[in-house]
Amino acid sequence: MGNAAVGAARGAPAPRAPRPRLAAGLRRRLLAWYDESRRDLPWRGHPTLYGTWIAETMLQQTTVVAAAPCWERFLARFPDVRALAAADEADVLCAWSGLGYYRRARDLHAAARLIVAKANGRLPRTRNAWQELPGVGPYTAGAIASIALGEIVPAVDANARRVLVRLLCAAPEEASALRGRALEAVAAALVDPHRPGDWNQALMDLATAVCRPGAPACSICPLSGQCRARAAGIAAVVPPAAARRAPVAVRLSLLVLEMAGAILLVPPGTAPLASLPVASRSVRDDFKPLYRGLFGLPATPWYAARDAEIGRDDGFARLAARAWRDWAGLARGAAGSVGEAGTVKHAITTFRLDVAVTRLQWLDKETPAVCPAGSVWRRPDGPFPPLSSLATKALRCAGVT
Ligand code: ADE
Repeated sequence: MGNAAVGAARGAPAPRAPRPRLAAGLRRRLLAWYDESRRDLPWRGHPTLYGTWIAETMLQQTTVVAAAPCWERFLARFPDVRALAAADEADVLCAWSGLGYYRRARDLHAAARLIVAKANGRLPRTRNAWQELPGVGPYTAGAIASIALGEIVPAVDANARRVLVRLLCAAPEEASALRGRALEAVAAALVDPHRPGDWNQALMDLATAVCRPGAPACSICPLSGQCRARAAGIAAVVPPAAARRAPVAVRLSLLVLEMAGAILLVPPGTAPLASLPVASRSVRDDFKPLYRGLFGLPATPWYAARDAEIGRDDGFARLAARAWRDWAGLARGAAGSVGEAGTVKHAITTFRLDVAVTRLQWLDKETPAVCPAGSVWRRPDGPFPPLSSLATKALRCAGVT
């Protein structure tokens, strides 16, 4: 633990790592708070290397509350790296449902296959080795290595950075300088050498419960007496919120098409914008990879037309149904009843989807044996192929699942 200057970014002075005595005091206080207040999370009981890897991957873009039940289900389904590597990708994606951002599941699966193929199933034993794997960046590698291997390394994401910035910075310019290498050096100097995993998780819990963005609860913070931003009266405004990419609003309709008690699911890549002239090419190109490997519901861009048509003669739904019958290579037949199921909102990366859901029952007595366009018919009680979260929401909205 040093007292080294940690360099400057963009000409502004970055704060130094705290002196050893101060660092020791910070560790003592934060770990005492953690021992009292830590969240009781399923992966924290007896952290295994495999279970920690799965948890940290889930937690990259999913809240603790949403991840907890999925983690238990995933581990029951794939109890070790060999089971995960041996699985079909579709099964892995199914087990990921509820978490979104399926790219993580595909990376996890690819990493499991690499570990089995190249290391005979032995999981990496250092942060650096973890970072070689798909889907494992510096933060995740640091979290896994410190929690499950006891390696004395930091795990700095935006939340941990917020705590460190407030703790060490008395001016906004210092806060902007505390990033990259300077941040890594300060964070590394602070890790508790005896409890590195607990230290990193204590920072995570403090960031969530106390040192929140915008409105820090300094009055209950175990580090408030040492916090430079608090002393300077700037804790609520540093670090400044990152500029977000402007959200892209998309309106579309999803169809729950039923025939002989089964639902039409359209194949990966079709869901929901990929084949539709609903958005500019660049929006479609950004959107399509998000749904790779996932089935969805038939989509139409005719939200506006639907507003006008529904309630008059169901013209929209009939038109859409006819288009989808053509698409699926089915003979044209009469549609049955049409029901307006409702609307769902769905956010994925920068997209903000406003989705009208329409349920339409065809009168055909049987579903066709072959669906040339790769679509499948599934009864509402499943089993389903891996479905996008949006499709899952829409089916629920339509009262099908
Ligand atoms: N966020 C990311 N990793 C976490 C962990 N291990 N505990 C709580 N929150 C987290």
